[in-house]
Amino acid sequence: MSSHESNASVTTSDQITVEVLKAVGGASDPRTRQIIEALVRHAHDFAREVQLRPDELLYAADFLKRCGDISDASRHEFILLADILGITMVVNTVSADVPDGTLEPSVLGPFYRSGAPVVPNGANLSLGGEADGEPAHVLGRVVAADGSPISGAELDVWGTNADGLYENVDPAQPDYNLRGRLRTDSEGRFEFWTVKPVSYPVPVDGPVGELFAATKRSNMRPAHLHVIASAEGYSTVVTELYTDDDAYIDSDAVFGVKASLVAHYDWITDEQKVAVSPRKRPYWELRRDLVLTPGTRTAIAFTTGREEHAQ
Ligand code: BEZ
Ligand code: FE
Repeated sequence: MSSHESNASVTTSDQITVEVLKAVGGASDPRTRQIIEALVRHAHDFAREVQLRPDELLYAADFLKRCGDISDASRHEFILLADILGITMVVNTVSADVPDGTLEPSVLGPFYRSGAPVVPNGANLSLGGEADGEPAHVLGRVVAADGSPISGAELDVWGTNADGLYENVDPAQPDYNLRGRLRTDSEGRFEFWTVKPVSYPVPVDGPVGELFAATKRSNMRPAHLHVIASAEGYSTVVTELYTDDDAYIDSDAVFGVKASLVAHYDWITDEQKVAVSPRKRPYWELRRDLVLTPGTRTAIAFTTGREEHAQ
């Protein structure tokens, strides 16, 4: 045998997969091992299936780098990416144990800002006046599956103004505008004023925008009110209530709409009701009970910040 010859056979991609699985198999935490092993298997299979080219892998690396570059305290491109690829909704759906009739989860989104003011029942979360949009009265009860009231439950709610902007990215809005936390009373009741939600585009000025353009998709979200419902002894639910008359109700850019989360607002013109409403003019009313299931109350491990703006 000459010095140039060897018995080594060509390495297959399957052999590489086996090697990598061996290399990551030492993780001592079983859940970490399960996740990393599955990630390696699926990623390798994915590369084999599409015959991924080196230049495409480099493009993907650059795409993710740019997702990082554009992210800051008030912008989270990776959450947006997971949302618009439907990964968030798959995760929410497989991890929630929601019997029929109980509150289903939906998307948290990148605009959740923790620490909203705790306000009394009946408070008006709209601090920006008429510019915020059409007034809306939202009321109902938080109950268990048997209908019994859950008192002291917390609702952390947030929404955009009529321009489709959250306060943390809009210097024209007051701090924490259209955000607030309420506690249910002894009968499980809650009540607050906000504005009727509008549909709005998710941001496309970053790498996620390239993905929308490449796949010729709409980046509109149907009108929705964000709610995190939590109570001691019950599973925390991150969700949204979608407005039934919205043009984008069947084409949400982040796939968050579920039939049980579609809600109807009534237009209230009754003179006596109007007279005691915050803006003394006709308004929208959403009546909705929220049903929680026994479980563990959990904290939300993400918050956006308010953009810094030059004075
Ligand atoms: C939102 O509803 O706030 C949202 C959700 C996902 C992506 C962008 C925005
Ligand atoms: Fe939203």
